[in-house]
Amino acid sequence: MIYPIIAYGDPILKKRAKPVEKDDSFDLKQLVSDMFDTMYQANGVGLAAPQIGLSIRVFVVDAEQMEEKSIKGFKKTFINPTILDESGDEWTYEEGCLSIPQVRAEVNRKSTVKIRYYDENWKEFTETYDGIAARIIQHEYDHLEGILFIDRISMFKRKLIQGKLNDILKGTVKHDYKMKFHSK
Ligand code: NI
Repeated sequence: MIYPIIAYGDPILKKRAKPVEKDDSFDLKQLVSDMFDTMYQANGVGLAAPQIGLSIRVFVVDAEQMEEKSIKGFKKTFINPTILDESGDEWTYEEGCLSIPQVRAEVNRKSTVKIRYYDENWKEFTETYDGIAARIIQHEYDHLEGILFIDRISMFKRKLIQGKLNDILKGTVKHDYKMKFHSK
């Protein structure tokens, strides 16, 4: 099932997501499969559950379509993740987000992230990532904390993109995948 992607302006994107209960009656594997399908049809490299309207701590990533060869095969599901440590020098990278179409901005983040999480089979992992993989994880993890990449840019840069953000709020932004706008 392909979900519509929740657009910037919906309060669910600003909310801290709740952990998934292991004995939840809903089908976690089906949800994960639907999240990958939804992400692929939108040509995304990461998707967090709040972006499909579910305020739970789940995100998926697949960097296969990115140009950086170093992360080929980086495809993972993160259930109830906790970032344990962020380290290394800050570096800047231009980010985008399926919930904020037509907007890209350079964001500073630390280079290395240590994260503990479960996969869809409730197997626990603690792993360290750097470079683009860390960047994707940090961006998606932010979604679970109710933070968007545009919250991490300067007021000056934010002013430059405000017109585009207003178009998203109004639901008039151009988008080539199914979206759900708060104003509609
Ligand atoms: Ni995003």
